[in-house]
Amino acid sequence: MNDVLVVHGGTPLHGKTRVRGAKNLVSKAMVAALLGDSPSRLFNVPAISDVEIVRGLMELHGVRVTDGADGEMVLDPTDAGEADADEINVHAGSSRIPILLCGPLLHRLGHAFIPDLGGCNIGGRPIDFHLKALREFGAIVDKTASGMEITAPNGLHGTKLSLPYPSVGATEQILLTAVRAEGVTELSNAAIEPEIIDLICVLQKMGAIIKVHTDRVIEIEGVKRLGGYVHRPIPDRIEAASWAAAALATKGDVFVEGARQADMMTFLNTYLSVGGAFEVDDAPVGGGIRFWHPGGELRAVALETDVHPGFMTDWQQPMVVALTQARGLSIVHETVYERRLGYTKALNSMGATIQTYRECLGGTPCRFGRRNFMHSAVIAGPSKLHAADLVIPDLRAGFSHLIAALAAEGTSRVYGVNLINRGYEDFENKLAALGAHVERP
Ligand code: EPZ
Repeated sequence: MNDVLVVHGGTPLHGKTRVRGAKNLVSKAMVAALLGDSPSRLFNVPAISDVEIVRGLMELHGVRVTDGADGEMVLDPTDAGEADADEINVHAGSSRIPILLCGPLLHRLGHAFIPDLGGCNIGGRPIDFHLKALREFGAIVDKTASGMEITAPNGLHGTKLSLPYPSVGATEQILLTAVRAEGVTELSNAAIEPEIIDLICVLQKMGAIIKVHTDRVIEIEGVKRLGGYVHRPIPDRIEAASWAAAALATKGDVFVEGARQADMMTFLNTYLSVGGAFEVDDAPVGGGIRFWHPGGELRAVALETDVHPGFMTDWQQPMVVALTQARGLSIVHETVYERRLGYTKALNSMGATIQTYRECLGGTPCRFGRRNFMHSAVIAGPSKLHAADLVIPDLRAGFSHLIAALAAEGTSRVYGVNLINRGYEDFENKLAALGAHVERP
């Protein structure tokens, strides 16, 4: 029963909250620390379970991880070494981060064991780009019953690579491997998300030589050794957008300290088109973005998720909840993950009118068209949402269920709510501080 949250909806969220370092950068920066020969220091690390999982993985590999005040974390890789395969398997459980340990472990130990990967169930989530790239660097991948044994008997060598799709994880894999491979690596069709650029900043601080060209080309000149880094991560733009959408859906007004305009431009454009209001406070300390519902009716929009600089796939679910409150027909075309609209059934059970389609609606044809993936949605609004019992399917959809429950009249029970701790720090207290009526049964 301690995985259930009771939400008494219908109260606008009002007040101030804050976001810390981006989950999807912090976890990768922690892995990068394994490439250095001296300690690395990260600031503003969020207390979320995904960070705990990576921390455990680092510790299993002999990295000493210590915490300072207010989110400071020091990772000392001096004694890094072998980890027990069974322990890695048990520990990694639900995370996809272990795959990114390949390059650092190959450089450090000459081999790596990667357990079967977990993560959110939002599509096939294959790792074929990762494995192909590792092989092109000279690694040998052996699949075993419990995972993968990866070795590089002749070392890792720079190479020319092109990704079939600008995958965030595969780009990170290539960066973390190429920085200490012998020679130059040229990667085309790379992901260029702000979290990728921030990881490049981390690696450059460690001594890596990385050039980001135009047109998604990244060139990495391998170096023999890397040191530690001191880094303050970019803010979590997914969490910031989640609070922004919650403000809109509940007709509220939320200041998100730490949110940064430059990383959220595409989201902000859509926010304005829907009829939301925002105000940027650029103060270096305490600055952020205030998001609010200015009154009147919200407007329907057509949006398509895409790789950066497009509308992030992780912004889609919270925004769809807000779109249930907009007048007219909104169209959403999800082009990054093939199964990221399943959660809309739960919204329909609360009174929303959302129809999903196999066709690519409202945008450019994507990889999923005519392949039986329900990856487009039409949302008819405004709908009066009512309370329901909800089961959280994955991290982002889970937070959207919460937003819907907050916007709905009546008392909802949200099951599996602890999953939200993976990516949202202290979310229950944050909700309560914004005036939400939530309680554990
Ligand atoms: C990262 O996942 C994020 N996770 C995701 O956030 C985010 O949604 C995603 O990037 C896109 O921005 C982390 O950073 C930990 P991808 P990643 O490789 O790297 C296909 C969250 O809730 N693909 O860019 O795993 C893949 O199936 C999470 O914070 C292959 O086909 O995503 C997908 O369709 C959810 N083969 C597309 O590429 C591969 O080998 C993009 O995936 C790799 C990917």
